[in-house]
Amino acid sequence: MNIKDIILKKSHGKALSKEEIIFFVNGYTNGEIPDYQISSLLMAIKLKGMNEKETFELTKAMLETGEVLNLSKLGMVVDKHSTGGVSDTTSLVIAPIVASCGVNMLKLSGGGLGHTGGTIDKLGAFDGFNTNISMDEAITLTKKIGCCVLSATANLAPADKKMYALRNATSTVDSIPLIASSVMSKKLAGGADAIVLDVKYGNGAFMKTKKSATELAKLMSDIGRRYGKKIDYVVGDMNEPLGYNIGNTLEAYEAIEILKGKKGKLYDAIIELSGKCIALGLDIEENIATQMAIDAIKTGKALEKFKEMVKAQGGSTKLFNGLKLKPTLIIKATQNGVLKSVNTEELGILVGQMGAAKQTLDDVIDYNVGIKTFHKIGEQIHEGDTLFEVYAKNKGQAKEFAPKLLGCYKIV
Ligand code: URA
Ligand code: CA
Repeated sequence: MNIKDIILKKSHGKALSKEEIIFFVNGYTNGEIPDYQISSLLMAIKLKGMNEKETFELTKAMLETGEVLNLSKLGMVVDKHSTGGVSDTTSLVIAPIVASCGVNMLKLSGGGLGHTGGTIDKLGAFDGFNTNISMDEAITLTKKIGCCVLSATANLAPADKKMYALRNATSTVDSIPLIASSVMSKKLAGGADAIVLDVKYGNGAFMKTKKSATELAKLMSDIGRRYGKKIDYVVGDMNEPLGYNIGNTLEAYEAIEILKGKKGKLYDAIIELSGKCIALGLDIEENIATQMAIDAIKTGKALEKFKEMVKAQGGSTKLFNGLKLKPTLIIKATQNGVLKSVNTEELGILVGQMGAAKQTLDDVIDYNVGIKTFHKIGEQIHEGDTLFEVYAKNKGQAKEFAPKLLGCYKIV
């Protein structure tokens, strides 16, 4: 087999065989095929696409370059994956909700990507929370309390790690088969029996339209089922932040508020996703499972489980007693109007730049910076209403960011 022939074949829009896919994935991972040839192939795939079978074979070849976790000691394990958004704390609270309903969830998570905060970063808001635990420890914890969250190790799908970096450098991230195989290679290596996918669309998401997000969700579901997993998915709007808070401590606090019963879009998304996870985990009707999720919040048992998880992983539970942060600056509306649109991606980027996300690899995260918002699209705003509470490093930073934050709101 020859990599030049494979590139040529794909550039003519032909489907690659399983053997050809395994050849280029393994050849690239072990360093036998150079970056420039795989770059060319990735661009051909981006332009000509891949059918479902090719995408499945690509996923399987990538996941087989690394470890596949064995969670058989835990019986049924459910995982949930989000393609990421702004003010999206669903991953923080779904594990305790479903665990409090008798479903095991062992979540492998990552740090933030671009404008979206990562679950691991948000858990860092609970001082001391340790996500760098071994798989054995994670299994023990899950057996004991039903859930745990750990940092994804480098050993899962190393081919994806290398190819994702190359895609970032060659403008080939933006391809549905490449995204689907990238995400699913890591998820399937994670060893869960059932996976619920949360695919976002809009100006704060990877996928810009509902149509493309649905296409991605269906393709990922197809890959998971071919691999023998139980799969379900949700396609959700990210044209505005999902919750009201952005920034690690503020988002972790909002997650606690949700478990104490605060309603809204974030609550709705959490209930829908939890219902799907419980339905797959217990093999019951989704409407019954959804009611179980609602009840877990109502009775306070999901909140107790969250506290138990934070304690079990060494985190401080101080935040459960209330938010001690004070805003550095309050930005008020200077006119009446309706919130027409939000530049969600930019809001996420700005909060990251204030210090909530690493801007370089060796940056240190400031867990306490962030913003609180108060309005959703379509709501009436009155002169003098608070638009943002800014939690900055200092007054100077708050003043520097204020006009940029305001620029993300279109009020007419
Ligand atoms: N996230 C991933 O893990 N891979 C992609 O290709 C895009 C988003
Ligand atoms: Ca299992």
